[in-house]
Amino acid sequence: MNVAKTITSLEKSLSEITPDYTKILVPTMGSLHAGHLALIDEAKRTSGGKGFVILSLFVNPTQFNQADDLKHYPRSLEMDLKLCKEHGVDLVFAPESDIIYQADHSVTVSESELSKRLCGATRPGHFDGVCTIVLKLFNLTRADIAIFGKKDYQQLAIIRRMTRDLNIPIQIRGVETIRETSGLALSSRNKRLSEQQHSDAQRIRRGMLAAQTTYLQGTTSADKLISVTQNIIESSELGLKIDYLELLDRESLQPIKSLSSPAVMAVAVSYGAVRLIDNIELP
Ligand code: PAF
Repeated sequence: MNVAKTITSLEKSLSEITPDYTKILVPTMGSLHAGHLALIDEAKRTSGGKGFVILSLFVNPTQFNQADDLKHYPRSLEMDLKLCKEHGVDLVFAPESDIIYQADHSVTVSESELSKRLCGATRPGHFDGVCTIVLKLFNLTRADIAIFGKKDYQQLAIIRRMTRDLNIPIQIRGVETIRETSGLALSSRNKRLSEQQHSDAQRIRRGMLAAQTTYLQGTTSADKLISVTQNIIESSELGLKIDYLELLDRESLQPIKSLSSPAVMAVAVSYGAVRLIDNIELP
């Protein structure tokens, strides 16, 4: 496994790839957990015998709203490299910030529709930072395929939109969310939940599955499906607070009134200082 920390060393590694190999990019901010490993495993499956898996490890400053968040973002390069090696990554690109951003950089990518809602509503500029770094990684690696998790559903939808609108020659793949056996979506934030909070947070998945069951029994009204989920998440004095819970068109992320085409129910829940997100594709 090669590790490139500069653009020159990245270029050198890329120039050594056999031309008929498919290049598959897995963009990450490091601190790899089972969710990321599932993305790598999907990349390996996709590549078959003729693929080259590139994983980027870069804590992208332009997608953070608060300097403190960026400062405290977990970093574990050595462990990440070990996991990449074990999972068969061919090349890790792990640049420092000044390699990626010129001191006087003045051009960014801006998405103006899908990023207005859900997490974008409370994180101004976040998705512009994501789009900018993701486009840079696409350009730097010239990957054929890029792999993202469906847990960050809005991010995936925005990246698909950017790829479509800017005619970027890359295929975007979404990978199912990895869950704990309890159903709770895997997140590095789960570690910050107490045992009791952890068990309460399982209501999020339970609420979404209840909406799915209600739909399968014939209910299509978005309001009704949302209230089924809401009642389960907030049905106690536990302190789970819904920040948003919406039923949206899967591609445009516009709210829908009735479920008749591919949709996604997306939720963000605050529990004390911890904010958890999850989603379910319906039908
Ligand atoms: O999902 C993430 O980890 C990041 O937003 C991404 C896509 C690697 C861009 O920095």
